[in-house]
Amino acid sequence: MARIVAGIGSSHVPAIGAALDNGKTEEPYWKRIFSGFEKSQAWMRETKPDVAIIVYNDHASAFSVEMIPTFALGCAAEFPPADEGWGPRPVPVVQGHPALASHIAQSVILDEFDLTICNKMEVDHGMTVPMNLLFGKVEKSGQWPCPVIPLAVNVVMYPPPTGHRCYMLGRAIRKAVESYPEDLKVVIFGTGGLSHQISGPRAGLINSKWDTNFLDNLSKNPQKLIKIPHIDYMREAGAEGIEMVMWLIMRGALDDKVDEVYRFYTVPASNTAVGHIILANRGRGGAARKSRAKPKRSSGKLKRAAARARVDRLRG
Ligand SMILES: [Fe+2]
Repeated sequence: MARIVAGIGSSHVPAIGAALDNGKTEEPYWKRIFSGFEKSQAWMRETKPDVAIIVYNDHASAFSVEMIPTFALGCAAEFPPADEGWGPRPVPVVQGHPALASHIAQSVILDEFDLTICNKMEVDHGMTVPMNLLFGKVEKSGQWPCPVIPLAVNVVMYPPPTGHRCYMLGRAIRKAVESYPEDLKVVIFGTGGLSHQISGPRAGLINSKWDTNFLDNLSKNPQKLIKIPHIDYMREAGAEGIEMVMWLIMRGALDDKVDEVYRFYTVPASNTAVGHIILANRGRGGAARKSRAKPKRSSGKLKRAAARARVDRLRG
């Protein structure tokens, strides 16, 4: 049986990709950001997922204002990097997992989430930047460490899906993954955000208090987040802060109670707050900390166990 072992939240700021591609990672401004992902890359190397499902939004690369699916699942065998105006990023073509993706499409659609199926799709920085942050730099001639199933969400044209809808889709994706017969270790990414606004009189808006609350609740109390209306994201986190609903798909695919493995937050990257979190499932096959203490037996149980041992010795 396939199982989701962990969820990863990560901003997908395009300038981070440009800094990596142009060899600026050691410059102090960018080093502050890349160094925040070093532990995450070590965690990813140790976790070694077989497949990653990456929830992201397309920025008018694969789609345009003429056609914007609310949820679009990539079922192709590969996804080339898109030309976003200055040529495709120098990263490898992303290999898909058509068998698992088709299985997810069938399971989720029969669960009444009407995904658009994409058998051909290019992917932009929304997906490839978080891949770099978690997998590290990979030469164009190389290969990403695991296949990826892209899930593109409309957060660029009103109305985007609600947080509740996103969370419930995450639940349906988890059910789909767990009904896939092959023994696969799967991680799921939620990308975008955190608070930012790129145009208009409030351009440059960043709300660290809102972002921190969001990360706290994502970890411990996601039910609080799924009730937040769009207008609150707009008001508090800026026009592009609505990207944060995509993190709720990731969170919906996890256990109710998770272990927060790692968190990183810094301001700014370009004009965006950068947020990152790793949440591990505790259940079967979860990627929660191996050092988590075993539950202690109560003193009553210990006394009964000692009494049984004494009886066994006497019988022996
Ligand atoms: Fe974005």
